Amino acid sequence: MKDADLIGSSAKFRTVLDEVNMVAPADCAVLIQGETGTGKEVVARAIHDGSPRRQNRFVALNCAAIPSALLESELFGHERGAFTGAVTQTAGRFQAAERGTLFLDEIGDLPLELQPKLLRVLQEKQIERLGGSRTLQVDVRVIAATNQDLWQMVQERKFRADLYYRLNVFPIKLPPLRDRKEDLPLLLDYFIGRYASKIGKNIKHVDKSTMGLLNMYDWPGNIRELQNIVERAVIFAETDTLFVDKRWLRCTSAESSTARDGLSALAEDEAAIIESALAQSNGRISGPLGAAAKLRIPRQTLESKIRRLGINKYGLEMRLTASTPSFETAAVGA
Ligand SMILES: Nc1ncnc2c1ncn2[C@@H]1O[C@H](COP(=O)(O)OP(=O)(O)OP(=O)(O)O)[C@@H](O)[C@H]1O
Ligand SMILES: [Mg+2]
Repeated sequence: MKDADLIGSSAKFRTVLDEVNMVAPADCAVLIQGETGTGKEVVARAIHDGSPRRQNRFVALNCAAIPSALLESELFGHERGAFTGAVTQTAGRFQAAERGTLFLDEIGDLPLELQPKLLRVLQEKQIERLGGSRTLQVDVRVIAATNQDLWQMVQERKFRADLYYRLNVFPIKLPPLRDRKEDLPLLLDYFIGRYASKIGKNIKHVDKSTMGLLNMYDWPGNIRELQNIVERAVIFAETDTLFVDKRWLRCTSAESSTARDGLSALAEDEAAIIESALAQSNGRISGPLGAAAKLRIPRQTLESKIRRLGINKYGLEMRLTASTPSFETAAVGA
């Protein structure tokens, strides 16, 4: 792979690599589960790259990023006139991924009403464009990923059991970084090499106390968080030794108690935006004055994000957080 190799030699990670090698040529559906930043997307790409479909496209679609009303057309395409604004016939992602792989990220956010349609493609390899009656044959391998507990969602009737079983033909569970800390030296080496060469630095060592700090840390944002911290440390490095400032780590294991502690930097930005919208709408989610309308995303998507990000939607904390940025700006300016 060009962009990211799969780095790790711990027993837990070797199991993952074995699974990737086993399933890649098999052409079956794959369900990748793991916390944020554990490498779900890189694993999906590795499976594609190791499959006979590697010459064809790897198309990724994040089910949580697209309003549910638009998702059907995004997946299956639409006929001209299917809805207001549908001025031309448009192919969906399934057709774009013809003879390749379609990566459906955050599959837990696929609306219930679309789930039978996905099941149909998986079973019959057939789709219909929105507003059309013609049945189209597609040849696409589906790899799905989620950081939610999909089985729990099945129990709660938020995810169809038949689709779950169909996707779960070959499940891959990615271990969180805190469960494979033996891989830290290898990962550090890899990221240091990558970022140091990018900016023309030569870093040969990792400071001893930094190594201790990184070993103690819980890594709630997993590999992505490690990668970002190494990039920052490389930029700051003035000698050939890498130092990490402990303030760059969000919390130590002893301090991580709330759901919010487990967020990546990206998710934190997202949480701040959502909290600010909630504050402006007085905690209302739906309706024309609600936060969902403000953010121009469907209510269900917002609710799912709120749950996932652990936002305390009616709490005072939310309102305080929403007003923090302006205080910070004031403090910096003063
Ligand atoms: N084993 C690994 N070796 C090297 N880099 C990795 C590994 N796993 C993940 N990464 C890197 O970490 C970052 C996060 O990986 P990725 O986007 O695949 O995570 P994810 O599980 O999809 O996260 P999210 O749930 O937040 O979308 C990427 O930049 C990826 O290249
Ligand atoms: Mg991802």
